[in-house]
Amino acid sequence: MRTTLSVIKADVGGYVGHVAVHPDLIADAERHLAAAHKAGLVADYRVLRVGDDLQLIMSHTRGSADEEIHRLAWETFQAGANLARHMGLYGAGQDLLGDAFTGTVKGMGPGSAEVTFDERPSEPVLVFMADKTSAGAWNLPLYRMFADPFNTAGLVISEALEGGFRFEVLDVIDHRRVELDTPEESYLLLALIGTTRRYSVRTVRHRRTGEIVAASSTDRLSLIAGKYVGKDDPVCVVRCQGNFPAVGEVLEPFSLPHLVAGWMRGSHNGPLLPVSFAQASPTRFDGPPRVIAAGFQVTGGHLLGPVDMFDDLAFDRARQEGLRVADYLRRQGPFEPHRLGAEDMEYTTLPRVLSRLAPRFEAVVEAPGERPAAGVAS
Ligand code: F6R
Ligand code: MG
Ligand code: MG
Repeated sequence: MRTTLSVIKADVGGYVGHVAVHPDLIADAERHLAAAHKAGLVADYRVLRVGDDLQLIMSHTRGSADEEIHRLAWETFQAGANLARHMGLYGAGQDLLGDAFTGTVKGMGPGSAEVTFDERPSEPVLVFMADKTSAGAWNLPLYRMFADPFNTAGLVISEALEGGFRFEVLDVIDHRRVELDTPEESYLLLALIGTTRRYSVRTVRHRRTGEIVAASSTDRLSLIAGKYVGKDDPVCVVRCQGNFPAVGEVLEPFSLPHLVAGWMRGSHNGPLLPVSFAQASPTRFDGPPRVIAAGFQVTGGHLLGPVDMFDDLAFDRARQEGLRVADYLRRQGPFEPHRLGAEDMEYTTLPRVLSRLAPRFEAVVEAPGERPAAGVAS
């Protein structure tokens, strides 16, 4: 059976501030998807949330980028935004940048990651959902899952993974894409995707069979809106086992709470904490950034799950390490590299603040007497 898993998400209003999604909004989204299920549009669905982001997880047979599935997501978010406005929730409709639906949610604000595949006899899938960060946050974990034998033992000791993986990388600034094959081109790949603000891994394929293994959302809200309108809070879907990395190999990269851009006002570097569903409300300095993982068995288009994959004491150390890093970084307040560098601040409110200083800057002219005399060490 050919199944599509579509994960489409948006922040349609926060509770309290940018911390969580009100239960009424989740119930409202569930009502919309239940009606679509009854009408036969989706085979199954789940509504989850991480931080202030509402996550629609939908299985169906209509393929990726399907207009009716995207319309369903868009209308569900519109209804959520209206309810959020009515309830006085914070930033109602924050991620809905357009007024009229144009056939896809792409470029309209919501993020989406979709995979279409022939279901294997058993199909374990993980859905990663992050808050207070952006698409480049997946680059490091995806590299480690699919190209680093120190993370994924299967690359060395399983014939099924032999031949490696093909990474599709998107340049989100110049709207170009490139494909790179690992292991041969892993150094080139790293040279690109280490620049997380510009390059995002969009899909990963198993080279020998061409099968899609992973897909992530690569939307950059600020690049769509032309100004800071919140972080992109990305999602990523990864199929596991068999020809692909095992569930444990896919989760293992998150044992390093690596630094990602986001956090307070989308303007700070901070550790990405792997957390349980219950810990998915970022309250410290609007953070630190965090990721949840929902595990499913996809069977005949139906979703068995979710299992809350980071709800395991084995990730306690990663969380503790992340919290130590958070303490250390916070002590640097508004100084780089805790605060993002100038290029990354381009679409925040900082340029407007600094523009007020422009008329006060004057040229520096050195008077001859102020130059150090020749031979005098300075
Ligand atoms: C970061 C985020 C928050 C807000 C911050 C200011 O992605 O959503 O850190 O940027 O709370 O929010 P506003 O500008 O809505 O007052
Ligand atoms: Mg928000
Ligand atoms: Mg968010």
